[in-house]
Amino acid sequence: MTARLLRGRLLSFHRMPESLDDRASYLYEEDGGLLIENGVIAAIGDYATVKADAPEDIEEIDHRPNLILPGFIDTHIHFPQMQVIGSYAANLLEWLNTYTFPEECKFVETAHAERIAVHLFDELLRHGTTTAAAYCSVHKASADAFFAESLKRGTLMIGGKVMMDRNAPQGLLDTPETGYDETRAVIEQWHGKGRNHVAITPRFAITSTPPQMEAAAALAREFPDLHIQTHLSENGEEIRYTCELYPEAADYTDIYARYGLLREKALLGHCIHLSEREADVMSETGAVAVHCPTSNLFLGSGLMPLKKMIRRNKPVTVSVATDIGGGSSYSMLRTMDEAYKIQQLLGERLNPLESFWLMTRGNAEAIRLADSIGSLDPGTDADLVVLDARATPAMALKMEVVNSLAEELFLLQTLGDDRSIAETYVAGKAMKSTLR
Ligand code: GUN
Ligand code: ZN
Repeated sequence: MTARLLRGRLLSFHRMPESLDDRASYLYEEDGGLLIENGVIAAIGDYATVKADAPEDIEEIDHRPNLILPGFIDTHIHFPQMQVIGSYAANLLEWLNTYTFPEECKFVETAHAERIAVHLFDELLRHGTTTAAAYCSVHKASADAFFAESLKRGTLMIGGKVMMDRNAPQGLLDTPETGYDETRAVIEQWHGKGRNHVAITPRFAITSTPPQMEAAAALAREFPDLHIQTHLSENGEEIRYTCELYPEAADYTDIYARYGLLREKALLGHCIHLSEREADVMSETGAVAVHCPTSNLFLGSGLMPLKKMIRRNKPVTVSVATDIGGGSSYSMLRTMDEAYKIQQLLGERLNPLESFWLMTRGNAEAIRLADSIGSLDPGTDADLVVLDARATPAMALKMEVVNSLAEELFLLQTLGDDRSIAETYVAGKAMKSTLR
């Protein structure tokens, strides 16, 4: 058995904080001890108590005065877009056609996919992200490279071979049949191997013909417990074109509903411009609206009404994500800084407790994996991030006047990035300090 004891300031959420004063929504231990056994959190509490019950010769790692939280979760990222990030385009469709599709064509080469997979996992762990839901490319080999790297690192990852059979370069198209067969092959080969989860991944309605949507529907029926990921209602021109392609549907959301693709564990990227009817459908089906703030601002897609969605009579489950490479940062801290600013522009408040809940337990609950990740609850996997609010001179200076946990979290969100990640643990193993 491998065991270690971490010491530091522990923070873990029980549920969504209702206000800055909602002390009952989270656990905070000023001098905390977290006991890890065989990659799982065995005990947490105040250091002295946890230490007293731990094996005598246990390895101890002192992270004081840093905060120890559950590892960040990124619920929407594109593995083949690491070299697309920062591409200059007027809008989503121009960005896809000019930069993104040509770049994804390169993933037909296994060696390229394997090289980029190493970089992806390095970058995620450097930024404190221990779980991500990733779109691979249309090529099965890209999914193989993604899951093989995840297996090597011991991470809990969600990924899918993208299904797309129209409106893209020839080198990026499958067919309804190969999309179905290769997705099945990826499921058989990788789902449940290590901590890997396979997602059914039709890219979006523009790049799938109705027969391919039927194939995705068949997969969704055959694998009712799998995640599904696609894009919904990101950009005005995209929405108009999509509705032209599916004239029988009431709206964009109805397209996916008609193919049985809306349910719990269905992760719909963006959801910026939903009508009330569409939001009702999202709520009724339990599908998740995945907010990607840096991407929405970078591509000029719009301001997603996150707080309004959560507050509805029929609430929509919302998660948060980077959307690399439409997104402009791998950091969930940078992501929540932009999420905060979007809510400011909409006249809403997103408080720092809510932000940190979203990055951790909120995202874990949205993707229905809170039994294993997203908190420091004993019995869950020891995927952790250690945060240093004094990581840069500017942060250290501001910390001199910070008086509360909420203020410290807000500083981390406003000025923090990968430099604020002192360590990242995956199943109890320190990872960041081992990176190049
Ligand atoms: N819609 C369809 N594909 C994509 C993609 O790769 N990125 C974003 N942001 N939107 C999409
Ligand atoms: Zn996306």
